[in-house]
Amino acid sequence: MNVTRDLFDEVMVPNYNPAAVIPVKGLGSRLWDQAGTEFIDFAGGIAVNVLGHCHPELVKTLQEQSEKVWHLSNVLTNEPVLRLAKKLTQATFAEKVYFANSGAEANEAALKLARRYAVDKFGAEKNQIIAFNQGFHGRTFFTVTVGGQAAYSDGFGPKPSAIDHIDYNDLSALETLISDKTCAVMMEPIQGEGGVVSPETEFVKGVRALCDKHNALLIFDEVQSGMGRTGDLYAYLGLDVTPDILTTAKSLGGGFPIAAMLTTSEIAKHLKVGTHGSTYGGNPLGCAVAEKVLDIVNTPEVLDGVKHKEALFRTGLEKINTQYQCFSEIRGKGLLLGAVLNEQYAGRSRDFLVAAAAENLMCLVAGANVVRFAPSLVISDEDIIEGLSRFERAVAKTVAS
Ligand SMILES: Cc1ncc(COP(=O)(O)O)c(C=O)c1O
Repeated sequence: MNVTRDLFDEVMVPNYNPAAVIPVKGLGSRLWDQAGTEFIDFAGGIAVNVLGHCHPELVKTLQEQSEKVWHLSNVLTNEPVLRLAKKLTQATFAEKVYFANSGAEANEAALKLARRYAVDKFGAEKNQIIAFNQGFHGRTFFTVTVGGQAAYSDGFGPKPSAIDHIDYNDLSALETLISDKTCAVMMEPIQGEGGVVSPETEFVKGVRALCDKHNALLIFDEVQSGMGRTGDLYAYLGLDVTPDILTTAKSLGGGFPIAAMLTTSEIAKHLKVGTHGSTYGGNPLGCAVAEKVLDIVNTPEVLDGVKHKEALFRTGLEKINTQYQCFSEIRGKGLLLGAVLNEQYAGRSRDFLVAAAAENLMCLVAGANVVRFAPSLVISDEDIIEGLSRFERAVAKTVAS
């Protein structure tokens, strides 16, 4: 069969518009397309390939588990899921774990749990969910409605209700809106899709205090920021603010689809037998891989490495900016970084991405004004330097066009 980009338009639902190149092989932070052209990967499968492509330890783990047992459902438990849950609880505030297959599903579980907890403990009136403009929490109808981007949530008929949005980093807006009817506040500890926006310390601490005051649960969506991406295993550890519920996906499986919702025993007990579930959640293949990812990422070597690599990226991007004057700031944390376009180049992030691809570099955007970088946490310094020199060529061409 002749597999080309045209085949996509022929047979795929047109909700995506992928690039023309079709990668067929990856190793570390390099990718090769059908023609054998090599790319450096600063995108990491949208902040997923946390240990690069085909990490030998992950390949070995997946192969070994594939010869043991692939799938059992939740009618039976399995060894990898229990080992992974134990390690996640040892490494975080959480005491209980629920497994899912994608970020949206982990968030769906978190939101349903928050609603159920509030209904059980305080009554049906306590159902308001507060979230943030430009937030992103997935594409199920509940999560996309909680995400603060109308472009994604409108046009599908009546939405789940009692969901309100305010601006990120606006503590006084939260103070005005929150009440004893609020059941949860959901936020990303760094807004990823919304433009790589960090919370101010006072804001995030204030959110925690307001949730405590009104018996509202604080849900941290760490789908993008979690599993080492910021240089801490989870971003909340670097903020010194502990959520009641945390969701994790993307990097958790290093490319194998798996997600989890973490919480305390006190909250978890409200999802009684039969209240929620998933056929594949806690699948042994995914859990075996995620256990290995956690073992590798949750080490000083990898987490300190993220800080060092962040510095390399920042220095390189600042240097490019000194010459081409196209960014107003480099923001984000660890290896979730955003180069924010200044007024002169506003709205043109996609042009930079397309120019980078033409220089054999994969990167991401986060909205129309931010070029985003979310590479492997173990990308080599050489690949960072080579990738940045490709990016510099892309910037030179974009600003000249
Ligand atoms: C913060 C955040 N939450 C949730 C999601 C949704 O995850 P998934 O696409 O795995 O459903 C994303 C995906 O980009 C995300 O960045």
